[in-house]
Amino acid sequence: MKTLDEEDKEQPSDTQVLKGIKLQGIKESGEKIPPGEKNVNLLKKIREQVAGLFFGFSESGPFPSSGGVFEPKNANRKPKKDTSPEKENADRVALEKIFSFSMKPRDIFDYLERFVIQQKEAKKVLSVAICDHYNHVRRCIGHPEERKLDYGKPNVLLLGPTGVGKTYLIRHVARLLGVPFVKADATKFSETGYVGNDVEDLVRNLVRTADGNVELARYGIIFVDEIDKIASLGEGGRDVSGRGVQINLLKLMEDTDVNLVAPNDITAQMSRMLHFGDEKPRKETIATKHILFIVSGAFEKLNDHIRRRTAASAIGFGNQGNDGRDSDFLHLATTADFIQFGLEPEFIGRLPIRVACEQLHREDLAQILTASEGSILHQHARDFEGYGISLRVTAGAIDAIAVLAAEEKTGARGLMTVLERLFRNFKFHLPSMAVSELCVTEEVVRKPEEALRRLIGGQND
Ligand SMILES: Nc1ncnc2c1ncn2[C@@H]1O[C@H](COP(=O)(O)OP(=O)(O)OP(=O)(O)O)[C@@H](O)[C@H]1O
Ligand SMILES: [Mg+2]
Repeated sequence: MKTLDEEDKEQPSDTQVLKGIKLQGIKESGEKIPPGEKNVNLLKKIREQVAGLFFGFSESGPFPSSGGVFEPKNANRKPKKDTSPEKENADRVALEKIFSFSMKPRDIFDYLERFVIQQKEAKKVLSVAICDHYNHVRRCIGHPEERKLDYGKPNVLLLGPTGVGKTYLIRHVARLLGVPFVKADATKFSETGYVGNDVEDLVRNLVRTADGNVELARYGIIFVDEIDKIASLGEGGRDVSGRGVQINLLKLMEDTDVNLVAPNDITAQMSRMLHFGDEKPRKETIATKHILFIVSGAFEKLNDHIRRRTAASAIGFGNQGNDGRDSDFLHLATTADFIQFGLEPEFIGRLPIRVACEQLHREDLAQILTASEGSILHQHARDFEGYGISLRVTAGAIDAIAVLAAEEKTGARGLMTVLERLFRNFKFHLPSMAVSELCVTEEVVRKPEEALRRLIGGQND
């Protein structure tokens, strides 16, 4: 056991730390800091100034020199841990929830039904995968011998057109489980991490989402969208970078240790060096073994390819290959299709669970408005309520909105566009008028300007 004095001797003195660095405004007089004497405030100031001088950031927060705006380049800095009692309590509850996981697939499915309309197959497949994975996690924690058994992680590939609920599904799964969740676009990554982000930043961001709690982050969910964009067989031939990103991702998807400080993050490395006086620098890592990976993509070209293939094989058999929906051929995709599309065999092989989300049709969109707990219509109703105006929408209006939204061909996102256009002028004028109710009929949806004019005219009479 070392005495404090001995430990002090082993630590580099403040003067040693400062050696060779000219500091603005600090000890300009050249006064020597006595060795062994810890001047914590001074050291902190020095660190801030050095970091500010060289990299434009201070310890008090991410890049306040750039107006306190959180910049992506700062995203891979080592996350700071929130150590407040409230946070510790919340973390403990979240971990206990994971350690005592006892949900059944049906529970997860029923929960998702409250928010996500259609996509029954995706909900079913996800519910089973989530239960399998978190049951395995619980067993590993309770019975360490389980960790030695082979385990194939049920990483999921979600296919489907834009705006049909792929991200929405995963967000709700993560919310239900109370596990940290990060979402990123595969297009943001580059093989080396020099141009784009490094795939390992995903794991570091998971720790950041968990407010620096590495233990909680180890059981999180990483969702990578636009995965079809890193298929290595693009229009112009083989895309080497896309292949490199796939290879880097597949390492994470299995089991690897990720350093909490990015190796190319000079700012964080420098900060660690400057912390040398406080504690011995340790290499802190996080294992990805229990992190669940869910990737998704629209795979439009693959859809067309399968449609042509099934159409060719169906000639003379009267077989359409699916129920006639033009965009829903992805559920017929085989491993060979994905490889032909440019996904590496090792990559697609680590995504054993594949499920396609379907295109949303007019009736589905109408149902989203009326039945989903997360309906965008509720949000608009709350907006009007803020001005004391109650919103009433007739069944005819719901159908008319759904028709317009389906024409947008952007899935449920079409609803957002149509409703924003519909309510734009009402939201501007009504709050300043003596109006306590807005009743939206089919007529109002078709001709909102006329309806508004009538309302304003009525007020002026
Ligand atoms: N099936 C659905 N049921 C209810 N709401 C939905 C559904 N699909 C989409 N939404 C609504 O539309 C929004 C956008 O959906 P989401 O982000 O899940 O699209 P996506 O399938 O991930 O599309 P992209 O491929 O463009 O990322 C959601 O936030 C949600 O409000
Ligand atoms: Mg998405």
